[in-house]
Amino acid sequence: MVFLSRNVFAQVQRRAFSSTAANAYKVAVLGAAGGIGQPLSLLLKLNNKVTDLSLYDLRGAPGVAADVSHVPTNSTVTGYLPDNSGLEKALTGAEVILIPAGVPRKPGMTRDDLFNTNASIVRDLAKAAAEYAPKAFILVIANPVNSTVPIVAEVYKSKGVYDPKRLFGVTTLDVLRASRFISEVKGTDPNDEPVTVVGGHSGVTIVPLLSQSNHPDIEGETRDALVHRIQFGGDEVVKAKDGAGSATLSMAQAAARFANSLLSSFSGTTVTEPTFVDSPLFKDEGIEFFSSQVTLGPSGAEVIHPLGKLNEYEEKLIEAAKVDLKKNIAKGVKFVAENP
Ligand code: NAD
Ligand code: LMR
Repeated sequence: MVFLSRNVFAQVQRRAFSSTAANAYKVAVLGAAGGIGQPLSLLLKLNNKVTDLSLYDLRGAPGVAADVSHVPTNSTVTGYLPDNSGLEKALTGAEVILIPAGVPRKPGMTRDDLFNTNASIVRDLAKAAAEYAPKAFILVIANPVNSTVPIVAEVYKSKGVYDPKRLFGVTTLDVLRASRFISEVKGTDPNDEPVTVVGGHSGVTIVPLLSQSNHPDIEGETRDALVHRIQFGGDEVVKAKDGAGSATLSMAQAAARFANSLLSSFSGTTVTEPTFVDSPLFKDEGIEFFSSQVTLGPSGAEVIHPLGKLNEYEEKLIEAAKVDLKKNIAKGVKFVAENP
């Protein structure tokens, strides 16, 4: 008789759920019981490429898992807490790991104000991921993304497992907002309004390239107001929630969309969308990470596209973005150097 270890058995089982082994993935959500984590877990449960959904949180994850597991799709859902090697079990065998773990903003705060709390949360989760799932694709949601992505990179480098193609800062919410807000200005369907958003994920580092959208004609005060709304869309939600956190539902949709793009790309669908990655675009200026259009594929970030043609207004936005980005990235790198 052949005995399979628990992990091997789970892998065989989940592959069996899918018609093709290439379309069956274990996806882990770290921070799964939070405002983003819960709806994100639900959306991932509805994704038929996810056959094993692994939910980890300091508290509440088994309850979320039990609840989501009743949604009638053929995937297994397991909730883990820190006890009984929960994090190790949640991560082992994971192909994709999403990290929404961390505190959200309150009115009056910047994303950078979250650094002191979230830097160590992300560092510690990255250490565990580097140990238990070193080949997994990491999708960082926790803010400040401009700093938490470099933190993961530094941890992975220190463990000798860094593959820049496998690390992504999720900036999809900026892209969704840009489509939605431009559709409100023009009275169109947001699904027909692709907008490339580049740079980073906070305030002036968020740069929508309206000249490359369907509406390069948007000019003057309308353009300024639209760009400002895209850059500071997060603040709208923080203010409206009035102390109860930041965007969770729209963010869950954004993260589920990016995860689906990545999973689809593994089986040959070409998907190109903006994401914050280890990028050659401004390395010569000391900016190691930048968001631009990235073609996804089985090895992750396969092609990092240049920004394309910009107008003078956008050139200025990029210059302003680079100033903040450089500081945000350096802060993350320094944090890991000083607090390994
Ligand atoms: P939340 O407080 O509702 O949920 C966070 C969850 O993380 C909680 O359940 C908490 O228990 C868990 N957690 C904390 N430390 C943990 C650890 N060490 N291990 C596992 N779980 C841990 O917050 P939220 O609204 O879900 O937001 C989460 C993060 O996402 C925030 O930092 C927020 O700023 C960020 N965010 C990013 C974007 C983006 O576009 N990238 C958008 C919205 C929010
Ligand atoms: C967002 O863009 O909604 C998130 O980054 C959360 C925030 O703090 O605004």
